[in-house]
Amino acid sequence: MILYFSGTGNSLYVARSLAQALGDSLRHINNAPADLTQEKMVGVVYPVYTYDAPAAVKTFADTLVLNKDAYVFVIVTCGSTPGNAILSVKQRVEKNGASVAYSRIVSMPDCSAPAMNNNPNDQLNKLEPVPALLKQMTADIQARKHDLQHAKCTAMGTIMNTRAMQPIGIAAVRQHVNEDKCIGCGICTKVCPMENIVIKDKKALIGDRCTQCLACVHFCTQQAMEIRHKTMPKEWQYHHPGVTLKDMMLR
Ligand SMILES: Cc1cc2nc3c(=O)[nH]c(=O)nc-3n(C[C@H](O)[C@H](O)[C@H](O)COP(=O)(O)O)c2cc1C
Ligand code: SF4
Ligand code: SF4
Repeated sequence: MILYFSGTGNSLYVARSLAQALGDSLRHINNAPADLTQEKMVGVVYPVYTYDAPAAVKTFADTLVLNKDAYVFVIVTCGSTPGNAILSVKQRVEKNGASVAYSRIVSMPDCSAPAMNNNPNDQLNKLEPVPALLKQMTADIQARKHDLQHAKCTAMGTIMNTRAMQPIGIAAVRQHVNEDKCIGCGICTKVCPMENIVIKDKKALIGDRCTQCLACVHFCTQQAMEIRHKTMPKEWQYHHPGVTLKDMMLR
């Protein structure tokens, strides 16, 4: 079984492609069975957030119940710098008695680029090598390859995920609803993996369970979901070109 978490579709695309190539099933981590001890092979695919795994993925990994003999692989998608994102999940899986055998990094357009005043769609060329990488990963996984060269502990991953620094990463992408633009269409409530947005008085209202995936920002129909109160041009909204809004809707 391949389990995924994704805000803008990069990780969904990778997870779905691997599931198809391996003839395996695909589940969002929110819909994963509580007990996976019957699975002989388990893959976990997710994005990198601030040099680490998303908080929601770490919480999920803490509760993963796997067969200790299962072949487990971890694939992360990121802009360029994965930090401790693989190690973070590997350590959690191992704490629960299973072990991770294989991991890979897939560089893709950085969905947090608008927070740094950049357009993620200017990075579409990063998608060109992905099919070849998927083919290689599929062959490696079929051969039950062991390779953990990417499961590293890095200085940035460690520093940015200290209690003192974490709020800085969160503040860098903080969302805000521009009430003049929001039409209460509810799309953001359907793509939010944390069920963290509700519609009240025909306006979106963000709660306190955010995991910074930016799905609400990139899929907002009116560009009303802002990062740090800045309006984002429509051309800067990004999702993986092989993934549709329907694919991303969790409810
Ligand atoms: C809050 C946030 C923080 C991010 N931090 C990093 C990072 O530290 N390093 C990196 O290479 N990419 C970073 N990214 C980019 C994502 O990892 C990348 O775009 C990923 O492929 C998104 O996957 P998804 O489309 O499945 O959500 C960050 C993205 C977000 C939203
Ligand atoms: S998707 Fe945008 S316009 Fe629609 S409810 Fe959410 S914030 Fe408002
Ligand atoms: S509120 Fe937005 S950024 Fe936060 S988890 Fe939900 S969709 Fe993702």
